Amino acid sequence: MQNSLTQFLIEQQRSEQLIEPELRLLVELVARACKRIGHVISKGALGDVLGSLESENVQGEVQKKLDVIANEIFLEANEWGGHLAALASEEMETIHPVPNRYPKGEYLILFDPIDGSSNVDVNLSVGTIFSVLKAPDDISGRDASEADFLQPGNRQVAAGYAIYGPQTQLVITLGRGVFGFTLDREMGSWRLTHPDMRVPTKTTEYAINASNARHWDEPVRQYIEDCLAGTDGGRESDFNMRWTASMVADVHRILTRGGVFLYPSDSRPSVTEGKLRLLYEANPMAMLIEQAGGGAITGDQRILDVQPIGLHQRVSVILGSADEVSRISKLYEAARIDL
Ligand code: AHG
Ligand code: MN
Ligand code: MN
Repeated sequence: MQNSLTQFLIEQQRSEQLIEPELRLLVELVARACKRIGHVISKGALGDVLGSLESENVQGEVQKKLDVIANEIFLEANEWGGHLAALASEEMETIHPVPNRYPKGEYLILFDPIDGSSNVDVNLSVGTIFSVLKAPDDISGRDASEADFLQPGNRQVAAGYAIYGPQTQLVITLGRGVFGFTLDREMGSWRLTHPDMRVPTKTTEYAINASNARHWDEPVRQYIEDCLAGTDGGRESDFNMRWTASMVADVHRILTRGGVFLYPSDSRPSVTEGKLRLLYEANPMAMLIEQAGGGAITGDQRILDVQPIGLHQRVSVILGSADEVSRISKLYEAARIDL
């Protein structure tokens, strides 16, 4: 039988000296939260969890019932363990310091409780994304602040997501490779089914919301035009396209069989900085993709090197198979030279 998540984490701690006990607890609690969220999602109409609320989140997006439920589950499952100083979520305007009734630790966690929430009501895959940082050294004598979270993605100590699809899976990195676990519902535990996930360097599959084509910048327009022209336009192969509107599902496909994902900034006023959130979506996914041998850029720079200036800031995202990401990077470079 495959190793359980617990076994995997203990071995990482023992033989590789890779993780501290607190980080092991953190991943275990995140995994437990995801198990619960997956369970609630799977009830669907039977659990009265579908549909939207009247409320909007801090980014002005209509909240789904499950956005709020999953946010609560995640907070409750993670705040008591003594390893965290504070949490931050896509669905909360400000950070959530660990309440005084619990001991505090030195880790910070950022999360997107339900990614792809427009897919919940139509029964397509959604996920939960998380990113882990160490708080600054002086954290023990004071309350955590928003500024503590504004660290570039290259400082993440762990990242991952759960995907609630035909199977429920947890995919994590602790900074040395990417590991995928499948939820064994009979045993109630996560089993290591995908050790050392790698993104194939080459691909002939891309993912982009093509309904935004008229708003794209030149490098993106050029790249997609070349993919569409395929062998007629000088590329060695014809290309295939997929778009699920759930970043977790698109990234999971890319981690499994390769591909390139683009949600670039474009000329729409609300998307000039991109649509996806740097701290809850782009950074954790960029860390996973890089750890699996792929590339992750904004167009002009590596996502993991972007210095955040706000908790909910958005960013342009292009990630996946290394050869395609490097091709797109060259198109951006050429556009800069032309300016
Ligand atoms: P969320 O549900 O957390 O707001 O995220 C949705 C994101 C991402 O998962 C997906 O890639 C993208 O939004 C889809 O956007 P479009 O509907 O504009 O294609
Ligand atoms: Mn999301
Ligand atoms: Mn979300």
